[in-house]
Amino acid sequence: MRRSEVMGPVLWVGLCAFAFTTSTVQAEHTATGTALKHKPALHRHKRDWLWKSFFLEEEKSNPPHHVGKLTSTKANDQTKFVIEGEGANTIFHVTSQGDIYATKKLDREVKSTYHLTAHLLNIATNKSVEPADQFNIQITDLNDNKPQFTQSYNGSIPERSEPGTNVLTVTATDADDPTTANGQLEYKLLNGTDDFEIDRNGRITAKIGFLDREKKSMYLLVVHANDMPGMQTGGSATTTVTVTVSDINDNMATFKKNIFSFDVEEDKKEDSVIGTMEVEDKDEEQNKDPIFTIVPHSSSGPDLNNVFKIARNLEKNGVLTLKQPLDFESRKSYTFDVRVHEDTLRSPPDSQGTNMITKAKVIINVLDVDEPPIFSKETYSFTLPEDAKVNSKVGGVSARDPDAASQSIRYSIDDQKCPVRIHPKTGDMYLDKKLDRELTPIHTFRVTAEESSPKALKSYVTVNLVVLDVNDNAPEMTNSQDLFACENDGEGTVIRTIGATDKDEHQTRFSFSLAKQSPDFSLIDNGNNTANIIVKRGGFSLEDRKEYLLEIVLQDGGLPPLHSTTTVTIRVCSCGTDRKDYYCKPAYAQAGISVSALIAILLCILTILVIVILIIMRKRYQKDAFIALGKSSGEIHEQLVSYDEEGGGEMDTNGYDVSILTSARNEGSLRQVPCLYNAVKRPPADRGNMAMMIEVKKDEADHDRDSIPYDTLHIYGYEGPESFTSNLSSLENSSFSDSDLDYDFLNDWGPRFRTLAGLYGVDSSHHDCC
Ligand SMILES: *[C@@H]1O[C@H](CO)[C@@H](O)[C@H](O)[C@H]1NC(C)=O
Ligand SMILES: *[C@@H]1O[C@H](CO)[C@@H](O)[C@H](O)[C@H]1NC(C)=O
Ligand SMILES: *[C@@H]1O[C@H](CO)[C@@H](O)[C@H](O)[C@H]1NC(C)=O
Ligand SMILES: *[C@@H]1O[C@H](CO)[C@@H](O)[C@H](O)[C@H]1NC(C)=O
Repeated sequence: MRRSEVMGPVLWVGLCAFAFTTSTVQAEHTATGTALKHKPALHRHKRDWLWKSFFLEEEKSNPPHHVGKLTSTKANDQTKFVIEGEGANTIFHVTSQGDIYATKKLDREVKSTYHLTAHLLNIATNKSVEPADQFNIQITDLNDNKPQFTQSYNGSIPERSEPGTNVLTVTATDADDPTTANGQLEYKLLNGTDDFEIDRNGRITAKIGFLDREKKSMYLLVVHANDMPGMQTGGSATTTVTVTVSDINDNMATFKKNIFSFDVEEDKKEDSVIGTMEVEDKDEEQNKDPIFTIVPHSSSGPDLNNVFKIARNLEKNGVLTLKQPLDFESRKSYTFDVRVHEDTLRSPPDSQGTNMITKAKVIINVLDVDEPPIFSKETYSFTLPEDAKVNSKVGGVSARDPDAASQSIRYSIDDQKCPVRIHPKTGDMYLDKKLDRELTPIHTFRVTAEESSPKALKSYVTVNLVVLDVNDNAPEMTNSQDLFACENDGEGTVIRTIGATDKDEHQTRFSFSLAKQSPDFSLIDNGNNTANIIVKRGGFSLEDRKEYLLEIVLQDGGLPPLHSTTTVTIRVCSCGTDRKDYYCKPAYAQAGISVSALIAILLCILTILVIVILIIMRKRYQKDAFIALGKSSGEIHEQLVSYDEEGGGEMDTNGYDVSILTSARNEGSLRQVPCLYNAVKRPPADRGNMAMMIEVKKDEADHDRDSIPYDTLHIYGYEGPESFTSNLSSLENSSFSDSDLDYDFLNDWGPRFRTLAGLYGVDSSHHDCC
């Protein structure tokens, strides 16, 4: 093994070995950075340590600056140094001989140490002559950064805190190396130093023990921080600290007045507020803690605490309230003291002295109020038996005016349905209507009492009238419907168990009996308000007798007892076994037709009759309407045709002898014909004209299809002259005025019709209408 290999590669650092305290480094650097290389092999045994680190000052202007020199025993003309690593060949360059230069201004606060590797190469071959080794370049600090506060501070301290009580700690930062004075800080207060202190670490504390929120509640402190402690040079910064002094209960509550006077109406209810006793306390609301106590005067009686109550409200004032209503008539004023104290007060309190009012006098004046009447009871209850007579006394109510004036009272009852009336002056009540417990067992009504003063104050009271039962209702039988006896019922068969009810109360016992004994049935009282109807001797037959009647007497247990008699019908039926599926002959089979069937039949007949009458009336009305409404002559024609009395035309000389008509006309007897008819209907009246007229009419009829066939109405126009009675035409009877008719014929009917004739007052003047 060669010696060189045993020794290993040795690189020599050309920088001197001097004392490495930071301060001296700094001092040396300010002189010359390269002076250190003059002590080469001296500390060879320390080479590792030496060559591992080079130092360079930050922020050095006018680069390049020589940093140091790499050395090696193997370095010669045929070798060169090469470096690699952080900043190699950019910031740091090395010559082939090993001199390292920094080509830029460096900032320790950006990067304080650069790690690099050194190689020694053969120039020709680029081969390593020695193994690579590492070293670093450290940037030494300059005080190039000022301290900084990042915020302002808010702190708080309770008033009256002990000296030294912590408020808060402020912290400034400095980017310079904290291991040097460049990066070390000191703090001081620029003002407020009378009350506060700050230590090296920025902790602010109270200096005195008597901070008083009520005097000064907030301090604004300015804190100064600088680096290079103890020196005038260096950077500095300030911040503000707001210190709030928080409140504690250190002020005593005091009444604002010595005497409080309140007026209270006597009608104020329990719990009404009388008034507020204001107190003064400089502390903040949450630290006010007044406690009020009522201190009776020796004259005011010991039980004032039952009458008045004092408590504090949200504003921490004392509020007096009533524990019970006052009464002007019995006491007109109250006087007492109210004391205030605080349990949580820090003593000695800030506020002290003779002007503190911890005991105030309270005067309460009771005011008179016109009050409504007061009834002697809250409700009244009376009882009366239901058979009490009208006008009997029910009872009495009474009310009085509580005021000193003591007005007289008037009583009244408003309820119309109330069975009681009241005496307006005495309040006595009397029965006004009969009572019936079974209808209304309790009457409840209101009595009004009204003062006779102008204000007419009223009060009301409820009165209950309980109606007591009297045995005034007869018992009633139950379960007694549809009784039947079977043909095959033997002796002793129970055909029904009947019961009883009674509208009166407390009817515990009913008794049953037969009004008169029956040979067929017996009645057994079961003694439990029921009774059995029992067959006495069997052998009923449908053929024999269809039903039996039984009179049953019921009696209630009232005092005096009331009884009722009920007749029950027992039908005879033929039954299956166990009295089921029974068949009874219908009751009406004996009487032929039952009453209901008869009524039904009668109703049917009546209905038919009514319908017929209605039809007839309708017909008649329609007929009237035809004429009254002036129906067209065509319809009238049809009406006439329906009578089937159509004339035979001019050729029908048998039906209508025209010569008779004509002769009558010539004799003047046509004057007897009713005037109107005469005027309207009469055609030209002589034989020749008649023939001509018929011709004319015929012609008309031939040429006018719409006109009436003249052989209908027209022919009737000639019926009159020879007739002894009046016109038979229904048209004429119904449509022409009666007064125009001739009733002379009534005279001819004989003495029996004289009255009638008289009524119609036949008179020749009646004919003058023409
Ligand atoms: C040695 O390395 C340098 C730099 O990398 C290069 O310029 C040079 O040509 C190399 N020489 C040889 C002989 O390889
Ligand atoms: C301090 O208090 C003020 C006012 O209340 C507020 O505006 C501010 O943000 C507070 N500062 C801090 C750091 O709490
Ligand atoms: C401290 O100085 C500031 C700024 O001048 C001022 O606002 C503050 O009131 C001072 N504080 C005291 C306690 O004097
Ligand atoms: C009453 O008495 C009869 C005979 O003792 C009995 O059959 C019946 O069940 C009783 N009714 C009631 C309701 O107690």
